[in-house]
Amino acid sequence: MKKVLFVCLGNICRSPAAEGVFRALVEKEGLAKQIHADSAGTGGWHEGEPPDGRMIAHAKGRGYDLSTLVARQISAPEDLKNFDYILTMDNSNLKNVHALDTKGEHHAKIGPLLAYCRTHAQVHEVPDPYYQDGNGFEYVLDLLEDACQGLLEKIKRDLP
Ligand code: 4NP
Repeated sequence: MKKVLFVCLGNICRSPAAEGVFRALVEKEGLAKQIHADSAGTGGWHEGEPPDGRMIAHAKGRGYDLSTLVARQISAPEDLKNFDYILTMDNSNLKNVHALDTKGEHHAKIGPLLAYCRTHAQVHEVPDPYYQDGNGFEYVLDLLEDACQGLLEKIKRDLP
């Protein structure tokens, strides 16, 4: 079993969407017993809340159900030990998660999700759509679909 954790700031927009997009790909390929996905925020302000209603609506438009997800804050060192791949949405998340890895022992498994983009290879951060209009949410989903496909190909190569 490989475990994947998607991390953003609030765990109500970008990382729950990444979790939903990635899980749908995993299920489509019949790999749900071998690959587990979860998400968390570096901040805890929205702990216990469902994803942002706008993100739920835009994701639903593409066939992803985010409505049952619940926000939580990343916990260190547990999450750093537990997960095999920890994928951050932007450079600030990356810096914050690296800082939680005080001994640097999990450094290799922490990295930017968009490193796995193929179509949007020139984009390195998922912008926070919180203060944007609907186009911002659609753009986030475009980036996540691209990167999650590349990520799944990589993890499939790592499966026993
Ligand atoms: P996210 O977006 O990191 O993609 O979940 C955010 C949503 C809310 C806040 C920050 C980021 N906030 O500070 O409330």
